Amino acid sequence: MPITTCVFDAYGTLFDVAAAARQAAAEPEFPHLQDSWVELANHWRLKQLQYTWLRAITDAHCDFWQVTQDGLDWALEAAALAGDPKLRQRLLDLYWELQAYAEVPAMLAALKEAGMNTAILSNGSPKMLDGAVQSAGIGAVLDDVLSVESVGIFKPDHRVYDLVGQRFDCARDEVLFVSSNGWDAAGASGYGFTTAWVNRAGEPVDRLPWTPAHILPNLITIPDLAKR
Ligand code: LAC
Repeated sequence: MPITTCVFDAYGTLFDVAAAARQAAAEPEFPHLQDSWVELANHWRLKQLQYTWLRAITDAHCDFWQVTQDGLDWALEAAALAGDPKLRQRLLDLYWELQAYAEVPAMLAALKEAGMNTAILSNGSPKMLDGAVQSAGIGAVLDDVLSVESVGIFKPDHRVYDLVGQRFDCARDEVLFVSSNGWDAAGASGYGFTTAWVNRAGEPVDRLPWTPAHILPNLITIPDLAKR
């Protein structure tokens, strides 16, 4: 089936999750972050994701804002920065206005021009996603923003991927699902979507039962891929 619907993961895929720590490290109030922001950002992201998986398999759901704060608290303590409440608040504030990757607005506009449905499908809470979409100015080129909060469980549970067919009334193989998270692209492949894994960091492919259909260095060629 031709692709009719292009669906994007949010954090790490459209929005740069390292931007909060990178930006705080460049501010004069936080000179001590200059050497440690990369490790802080990596720990923050890893713990945030681990907590989503653990909460999903133990049936202990909370929203993504809670695991985002919990992951940050773990990362700050690991970096011996837990005693800096101003830094914690600044990093959390920056998370609401993460930069989108440079190619995102033109890529989404090209998909809309080609007549595709476009949406975000994310672990993010509706409020967080609203903040990120508004600050990136991409609301007009998205048909919808779908949050796991409507099913109360995190990815890669199939109930999350079900939201796409429910919203756009399309078959699984009409969907191009795009994620920078190898495990999310793998889960969506297992579900039956055509998938593109955006592997900006050149990481190895996740050892899981499913593999992404396409592996791309960035989002630039997504409109060509969707029209193929
Ligand atoms: C999301 C996380 C997984 O946006 O990045 O769903």
